[in-house]
This record gives sequence, C-alpha cells and structure tokens, in this order.
Amino acid sequence: MTAQTSTGSSAPPGIAGWPPPALDPAGPYAGAINLVSWVLFAMGAIVLVVVVIALGLALFGPRKWRARLGGEKIIWAGGLAFPIVVLSGLLLYGLAVTSKVASEPLPGEMRVRVTGEMWWFRVAYLDDQGREVIQDANEIHIPVGEPVAFELESADVIHSFWVPRLGGKLDMIPGRRNVLRLQADQPGVYGGQCAEYCGGPHALMGLVVVAHEPADFEAWRARRLLPAPTAALASRGAQVFDANGCGACHTVAGTTFNGLAGPDLSHVGARRTIGAGIMPNNQGTLAGWIADSQAIKPGNRMPSYPVLTGQDLREVTAYLDSLK
Ligand code: CUA
Repeated sequence: MTAQTSTGSSAPPGIAGWPPPALDPAGPYAGAINLVSWVLFAMGAIVLVVVVIALGLALFGPRKWRARLGGEKIIWAGGLAFPIVVLSGLLLYGLAVTSKVASEPLPGEMRVRVTGEMWWFRVAYLDDQGREVIQDANEIHIPVGEPVAFELESADVIHSFWVPRLGGKLDMIPGRRNVLRLQADQPGVYGGQCAEYCGGPHALMGLVVVAHEPADFEAWRARRLLPAPTAALASRGAQVFDANGCGACHTVAGTTFNGLAGPDLSHVGARRTIGAGIMPNNQGTLAGWIADSQAIKPGNRMPSYPVLTGQDLREVTAYLDSLK
C-alpha cells in the first residue's frame, strides 16, 4: 500500500506537493515521528525474528533446546518480563516525542486555527491575544525554520489533520481543541489530507501548506492584513456572484458578502487549489467547479450552478480570480 492509497485519494493533476510522501520528513517534528515509526518497525521486526527462531527450535530443534523452551523460566522471562520492558520503553519514548509535538502553544509562537468542516479546512491566523486576524481556507502559509502551533477544531464530525512531511497526524474533534506543532525547514508546498473518514467526499478533503523564507512570509502577512481592495465590486462578475446568492455562504472581505457556511473567498484568486486541495486553481477549473461541483466532488455542500451561462461563468470566475 502506498501513502496515496492509504489516504483514499488519487493524485490530482498538477498540484505541487501531492501526494505527500509519508516517509520523507521535511522538518524536525515530522523527523521525530518518522524516527518513531522506524524504531517501532525495527523493534517489531527483531521480535518477530526472535519469535520465529524460537518457534523453529521448539518444533524441530535438538531435544535439549526443546526442553529449555518448554521450561517455566522462559515463560516468565520471554512471556512477561521481556514484553513489559520493551513495550514500556517504547511507550515512554513515544510519549516523550508526542509531548513536544502536541503541547499547548508557547508564548510568542505563531498560531493557526484550522477547523475541519465537511469537507474542507477553515483556516484562521491568530494574533498574540488569540484573535483571528486573517481568514482563509484549504491553504496555510508559514515561515520556514520555526515551529507553528496548529489549533485543531471541528465544526461537525471528526476529521484528522495530516501534513505528513511537516508533522504528525491529529484528530479534529467537535467540542475540543487539539494542538499540533509543524515546522518546515525548506520553502516549498507541502500537501495534506483529512485522514479520518468523515463521510461522503472525505477522500477529496485536502489542503496545502506553503512554507516561505521569513522575509517572504512577513511580506505575505503584511499584504493580507491590508484592507481588502473593492474595485472589482463594480465588475459584472461581482453582480453575477451577488445575483446567485453566493454571498449567503461565502465571505469576501470589504463587501456585503458575509456568509460563513462555505470557504472564505477574500483571497480565493491567490489560492493554489480549489475544491479543498483537489484541483489546481485557475479560471478554467474554477468555472468547472461552479458549473458542476457535484460532478467533481459528489456530495459536497456547494450546489452546482447549471443555470449560469458561459458568459456569466467567465465573468464570475474573472471576478473571483481577481481576488488575490
Ligand atoms: Cu474530513 Cu475526512
């Protein structure tokens, strides 16, 4: 089984970082978890070899060996003491790693709140006081070389947040807030995937994490904190958006479109993917998504809009694409 099939998703064409290789860590937290995996695998393999050899000796070995393996001492040592020592050691090792990977945010640490929704990821960047200052969806920007605390929540059912190259995997549970720390050592785009079956199009619930050099990240953040430009509001595409009620589910900052049910579209034109990590974002895929999202991601909560004419579609996608 490859990482790709175990997440239940097929590779969408043309998205950088996808599918994410599960055994190719790109930061210290993913590295520590990767090491835990290999240590567990190695210990399991060693124990298996020892047990198979003991079994062979017990069945076919010389009489002296068979007598020794049938004795009471071997049961106490091999059946009780050995598993207690080995399993306790591995447990303590695993707990030591997870206490660093998944503990409360430290003072001064960058915080991002990610909320699992059916079937996408709501993203909010928090300031030092824990207020949400930037809203986004299905794409997360972080600086390289520093830990980022992800506060994981759910709006409906249990999802699981997993960006294999940057850190561990942690459930997003309704009514709870779990914290997971990720770090990227190199700039790049890292794919992620919901890793807990959450109904319907679960396998099509992805995201990307974009890691920037610190100066580039600061520039990105400063741009996002500026008031939203409103020039595009005069376009016919914005009228199509308005007339079809898109603003009832989607927010565009600086406008009267303030729906909260669906992904925030204030900067949708800048996102790398649409449909929650499943397609590269361009005017063609965007138009296809609006016209017939139910064919692309069956069961998702955005209705298809077959009523839109080709002209309407071109104009509304031009408007959305202009929201950088
Ligand atoms: Cu969300 Cu699976």
